[in-house]
Amino acid sequence: MTHENQGLRAKYQKTSWFYDLLDYPWERQYRKWRPEILKDVNGWVLEAGVGTGHNLRHYSQSVNLTAIDLSSGMLGQARKRVREAQCRVDLQEADATNLSRFADGIFDWTISTFMYCVMPDRLQPLALKEMSRVLKPGGRFRLIEILYSKKPALRARQKLLAPFVEFVYGARFDRKTLDHVRSIQSLKVTRTTYLKADAYLLIEGQRI
Ligand SMILES: C[S@@+](CC[C@H](N)C(=O)[O-])C[C@H]1O[C@@H](n2cnc3c(N)ncnc32)[C@H](O)[C@@H]1O
Repeated sequence: MTHENQGLRAKYQKTSWFYDLLDYPWERQYRKWRPEILKDVNGWVLEAGVGTGHNLRHYSQSVNLTAIDLSSGMLGQARKRVREAQCRVDLQEADATNLSRFADGIFDWTISTFMYCVMPDRLQPLALKEMSRVLKPGGRFRLIEILYSKKPALRARQKLLAPFVEFVYGARFDRKTLDHVRSIQSLKVTRTTYLKADAYLLIEGQRI
């Protein structure tokens, strides 16, 4: 595992026990988006960076979910939410930049909400290539990202929050995830949608 991911894992091991409390102000917003983003997801699904499992209850019965995270602490919190899920859930400790335990082309969907904003830019192409490899041809993906807004007032608030967000979550507003997705030849971006102002971006696409 890279030193960056060792650092991230250590961070999330510490924050896992109070993560939901810390994230509550944001989660009030996110919980409106999660069901919308997941309602038509079906088949064999890989969720990378499952965190404390806020997405689990929104997958439909038709889903067979494998959900991974770097941090066993976060997975421990997610485990408490498995009983809320309507689908079969398999939680595994794994690094999204190395999915060698999974064969090529086995998933219909991959989902990641707020993982790529945490992942250093250097590692993002690795994770995206792995995501592409494990997707079936035509398999689909959805990622939610956070971005610096171009609106001065919002951007100023984000700048104020940025040191806290990076210290606690390892997240940054200036990651280049959409560029990284577009740089992977086997992935096609089919739609991008701002979920709130120009600060939260849903990236949708498929494996060619
Ligand atoms: C900000 S939290 C988001 C959690 C969850 N997806 C949500 O929507 O609430 C980011 C999560 O991504 C995980 N993560 C970061 N890098 C990862 C990687 N390379 N592989 C797997 N999980 C990773 C962290 O451990 C953390 O649980």
